[in-house]
Amino acid sequence: MEEKTISIPSIKPIKVLGLVISPTGYLGKFMVKKFKESGYYVRALVRNIKKLETEGKFLEPAVNKFVDDIFVGEITKPRTLIGLMDGIDIVFSSIGKTHQNDKLTFMDVDYRGNKNLLDLAVSEGIEKFIYIAMLKDRRFRDLDVVKAKEKFVDELERSGLNYIVIRPNGFFSDMAEFFKMAKGGYIFLIGNGEKKINPISADDLADFCLKNINRNRAELTVGGKYIYSYNEISRIAFSVLGKKERIIHIPRFLVKPTIPIVKVFSENIGLFLEFLYTVLTNDIITEEKFGNNNLEEFFIKLNEKLKY
Ligand SMILES: NC(=O)c1ccc[n+]([C@@H]2O[C@H](COP(=O)([O-])OP(=O)(O)OC[C@H]3O[C@@H](n4cnc5c(N)ncnc54)[C@H](OP(=O)(O)O)[C@@H]3O)[C@@H](O)[C@H]2O)c1
Repeated sequence: MEEKTISIPSIKPIKVLGLVISPTGYLGKFMVKKFKESGYYVRALVRNIKKLETEGKFLEPAVNKFVDDIFVGEITKPRTLIGLMDGIDIVFSSIGKTHQNDKLTFMDVDYRGNKNLLDLAVSEGIEKFIYIAMLKDRRFRDLDVVKAKEKFVDELERSGLNYIVIRPNGFFSDMAEFFKMAKGGYIFLIGNGEKKINPISADDLADFCLKNINRNRAELTVGGKYIYSYNEISRIAFSVLGKKERIIHIPRFLVKPTIPIVKVFSENIGLFLEFLYTVLTNDIITEEKFGNNNLEEFFIKLNEKLKY
């Protein structure tokens, strides 16, 4: 395997072997591209190589041409990871259970999967572990996904490794759900729709990660440049589609009691509903607002993509 050394002005020369753990995901694909464009040698851990070759649903690029070497393995099976970090300097993990409808839990993937990687990183003495967590906020601490991610962050902090924990606000890919609903004619919101968020695109977030890559033992919270209420996001979606606005506000008191009932029938759908309820009924605005991407342009590009 080829190893490169580059000099970045004003910092010491660094070896640049980066390992991206989720090169098939929304953020992972942008991260692979940006790592490569910044001169890093990129290794990708995948379980399905084909996914590197295709563009993502949310305007993520195909990344096969940005990857220097591919390692096929499964983070939940440590035996498949032997050799993964040979020669690696920086590990970037945005791996996490999102929409995957499998039997694995957040603890299996977000905690144990990442812990398997961390154990390997410690034994290989890698220089830095960059991890994508979620916002640290007591309003969200009871969500299963947050508990699993925070348990991993605790392990990372205790590991003795140098690390960066990035805590992003909601992604543009999540906002695409509103666009999808608008295409169907109606947007359903929980509550009055006036709660606000500053979502961030994976493109901007990948830039933020790279901009901060020389930080040490750092925790960084970030969101996008623009703040929107959920009603505004819905209006933008209808306007891009040229459709009449139809927003249905479901009262909070009707939704909350149904969450435990839904969980009995489907744990995954129940957890998703709980997450949605928490997000839509709270203002979620970060102090750091980064990047330039806005939702209107994102929806316009999504719309163009969906036409073909
Ligand atoms: N969406 C948000 O608003 C938001 C906000 C803050 C933080 N985050 C976190 O940011 C991270 C990245 O989000 P994203 O939108 O980029 O997610 P994504 O598009 O769903 O990508 C998730 C990645 O994790 C991999 N993965 C999931 N389960 C796996 C398993 N059991 N074994 C191996 N790989 C597995 C996927 O691989 P496959 O392609 O093979 O499935 C994919 O590469 C996630 O941890 C998410 O929780 C998201």
